[in-house]
Amino acid sequence: MPELLITPPSEAGVQLLTLNRPKAHNALNTALLGEIADALSAAASDDGVRAVVITGGDRVFAAGADIREMAGTSAIDVLRDPRAVQRNRIDRFPKPLIAAVNGYALGGGCELAMQADIIIAGETAQFGQPEINLGLIPGAGGTQRLLRAVGKSLAMKMILSGESIDARSALAAGLVAEVSQPELTIERALKLAARIAGKSPLAVQLAKEALQHAFDSTLEGGLQFERRSFALLAASDDRNEGIAAFIEKRQPQFTGK
Ligand code: CAA
Repeated sequence: MPELLITPPSEAGVQLLTLNRPKAHNALNTALLGEIADALSAAASDDGVRAVVITGGDRVFAAGADIREMAGTSAIDVLRDPRAVQRNRIDRFPKPLIAAVNGYALGGGCELAMQADIIIAGETAQFGQPEINLGLIPGAGGTQRLLRAVGKSLAMKMILSGESIDARSALAAGLVAEVSQPELTIERALKLAARIAGKSPLAVQLAKEALQHAFDSTLEGGLQFERRSFALLAASDDRNEGIAAFIEKRQPQFTGK
């Protein structure tokens, strides 16, 4: 059985990726992370895919990096760890990525969820960075992304104590966009992805880039980036179609041109 299940894109252009290492609580080993990065690279260049949902299924999202794989590694091994390259490849996915999280999203699992653009959490979700219990710190973006998502005090509490938070706290903190009944989490994420997939892919891509830009730039730089992206879209057929459809009181037909 493959460790990553990949559905063909739906008619709406949504692809579902399901982590499938149930016996290890979907722990992210090198092979599985590589498969995720490969699947996203393929989805990036497939015009039939307009959005991707990643999930661990109904029970567990992912309980972190594979701890067994980490045993006995040297500093040089860790420095050269291919998983860092795979994480960067996931970061570069240009289309919307939604994480549908039920159960544990711990360590590298929480970090993977945070690499998504939007997190939909089931009521059973638990988000945490328990690396401190192993004498470690988060190694795949946790210290940076969690702080940006939930603010300093809660990020410090979670990372220094290893305590996790439940779905409702994650919603209150802004880590997740919505909380759903666990059995509906994936369905809700797929519906949201389909809604996004129905928009102009060019506008969606530039909106994602502009939002991501905010993390790395000053307000002035971000505003300039937004303004240029806004101007760039004036060259697209989709923008003219969107405005014409509004005026003609009909649904727009976006072509991605
Ligand atoms: N790596 C490898 N195997 C893991 C794993 C992980 N992160 N998490 C769980 N498993 C395995 C267990 O070893 C166990 O396997 P066996 O049945 O073969 O013994 C199986 O999954 C089920 O786990 P438990 O019996 O422990 O299940 P539980 O329901 O009692 O507990 C849990 C669940 C609280 C998630 C517990 O498994 C746990 O604490 N896991 C580790 C969580 C963790 O520390 N994550 C951070 C990893 S380091 C990291 O992620 C670094 C980074 O930033 C990139």
